[in-house]
Amino acid sequence: MIPLYNTDERYGSVAMFFHWAIALLFLILVVLGLTMTDMEDSNEKWQLYSLHKSFGLTLALLVILRIFWRFTNPVPLLPETLKAYEKFLAHAVHIGLYGIMLIMPISGIIDSYAGGYKVDFFGLSLLPKSPKRSELGESIALMVHVYGSYVFYGLFFLHIAGVIKHHFILKDNTLRRMLPIALRLKIK
Ligand code: HEM
Ligand code: HEM
Repeated sequence: MIPLYNTDERYGSVAMFFHWAIALLFLILVVLGLTMTDMEDSNEKWQLYSLHKSFGLTLALLVILRIFWRFTNPVPLLPETLKAYEKFLAHAVHIGLYGIMLIMPISGIIDSYAGGYKVDFFGLSLLPKSPKRSELGESIALMVHVYGSYVFYGLFFLHIAGVIKHHFILKDNTLRRMLPIALRLKIK
């Protein structure tokens, strides 16, 4: 059994759940976002917008819980063999990813609200339509949302490059300690 809480050596099951559920939601949201904005106006397009907003709000809720959990748990230590700049880079990418996890849903919600659209959560109306449309608010939020997605692609690339380097080149426990399978960490 994997413990619920993190230890200095590995992530616990709750942190793993948050990490993988949010990673999956990011994938779904990016695919939905790019598909829906590319479609001609139609019922299907607006249904995908609704789905994108609902998944985005689900993610926002998970992110709030995840950040709370992050601050009430030890964070597994990075391998001692890493150089100072490598530790700095790993922390910077993680902080950047947390930033993007917050900025994307916030800008998405503001974009919809300022544009005078409703924000539904699987059919449940969370925010009523804004009585007054703000074109400036909408275009700033949209810009943040779109450029935010580009920043995400860059950070995600660095994140995966780091994971690959740790697992295949340095052959340490970095990937294993985030996986619910292959529980046995390699002891050197
Ligand atoms: C982490 C969460 C999210 C991610 C990764 C994400 C990602 C994306 C992407 C990649 C696009 C396409 C951008 C483009 O045109 O290149 C998009 C568009 C959009 N997203 Fe999100 N999104 C997220 C959350 C949300 C939320 C919570 C809402 C609203 C409640 C939202 C509302 C929208 C809207 C309205 C558009 C269309 C903008 C337009 O009209 O061009 N998004 N999103
Ligand atoms: C296939 C995709 C992914 C893989 C293989 C992966 C793998 C990992 C691994 C192995 C760790 C542990 C690093 C360590 O022990 O220091 C980690 C941590 C982390 N990952 Fe991912 N990840 C993926 C997707 C994502 C995505 C999409 C996000 C954000 C949107 C993300 C955000 C993070 C963050 C913030 C941490 C640090 C966790 C903490 O200490 O609080 N990951 N990831």
